[in-house]
Amino acid sequence: MPLLEGKVAIVTGAGRGVGRGHALELARQGAKVIVNDLGGEYDGTGDDNRPATEVVNEIKAMGGEAAANFDNVADFKGAENMINQAIETFGDLNILINNAGILRDRMTFNMEEAEWDAVVTVHGKGHFAPTKFACTYWRNKSKETGNPVHGRLIHTSSESGLFGNAGQPNYDFAKAGLISFSLCVAKEMVKYGVTSNAIAPRARTRMTEGTFGNIPKPEGFDAWDPDNVAPWVVYLCTEEAAHITGQCFVVTGGEVSLIEQHHVCNTINKGDRWTVEELVAKSAELFGDRATGAPARFPVSSGAAQ
Ligand SMILES: NC(=O)c1ccc[n+]([C@@H]2O[C@H](COP(=O)([O-])OP(=O)(O)OC[C@H]3O[C@@H](n4cnc5c(N)ncnc54)[C@H](O)[C@@H]3O)[C@@H](O)[C@H]2O)c1
Repeated sequence: MPLLEGKVAIVTGAGRGVGRGHALELARQGAKVIVNDLGGEYDGTGDDNRPATEVVNEIKAMGGEAAANFDNVADFKGAENMINQAIETFGDLNILINNAGILRDRMTFNMEEAEWDAVVTVHGKGHFAPTKFACTYWRNKSKETGNPVHGRLIHTSSESGLFGNAGQPNYDFAKAGLISFSLCVAKEMVKYGVTSNAIAPRARTRMTEGTFGNIPKPEGFDAWDPDNVAPWVVYLCTEEAAHITGQCFVVTGGEVSLIEQHHVCNTINKGDRWTVEELVAKSAELFGDRATGAPARFPVSSGAAQ
């Protein structure tokens, strides 16, 4: 029995890469899927209806139900239109996977204003706008019926947002912000039956080609296949995962890692205002055996960041 029979899902940026895998797996599990993609280049320029249309055709060929949406997720009206399309076409909305993304990599000292704005807008506003309209629908529905809804939000961060990656200041800023955004929405929506979680995927797509080149496909299990990310994401959308919210996971190959989020690891407290001179002597106590200084103590991921 499919785990998402009768559920309605939206996946943004689902015409290619990781998002395409999410859309296909959701459909395999019985969900009706709005496949959003404006079909741009990896840097966000251009548009093309073909990627989203092709994924819709793949789902229909499997016997599933799907419809294409070509809106820009970072456009407020476009995001509202996409949420309304799901409700009007399939009668409800249960799952929103915010996945659409672009890159404009450059060192901080070389980055232009337009490069910063484009990336921060697509990832930041492109997550906020669809989430806002989905949450408005779920809150109203829950208030009308007096019952929690089955609402699932997945936000797509990155190991670059978790661990930092030189040459991606715009991307790192946006991807780090999405983790706190996900936690904020988790706290706001828990009483309405909505969960909100963040993932940091790692897979071979056109986005990673620019950074890592052409990663070869091995004979056996391909740990870089973008379709490896979907099973964990689709699991988070099921009733069985109703208790998982406000979390962050790195997902790649056959590996799912739970990321421990910010926590206080040590405190010094004088009970009065410190002087700078006192802190010169005391700061080592705050760090304990955690040696300070780059690069040895920079946080690291288990694999390559993107
Ligand atoms: N591939 C990786 O290893 C990796 C690592 C970390 C994070 N990510 C994140 O995963 C997500 C998917 O990336 P991918 O690797 O599959 O890249 P991809 O370029 O293959 O797919 C992204 C899709 O999003 C679409 N898109 C871009 N801007 C859009 C917009 N404004 N509105 C609607 N659609 C838009 C593009 O047309 C494209 O089809 C992104 O958020 C990316 O930052 C990927």
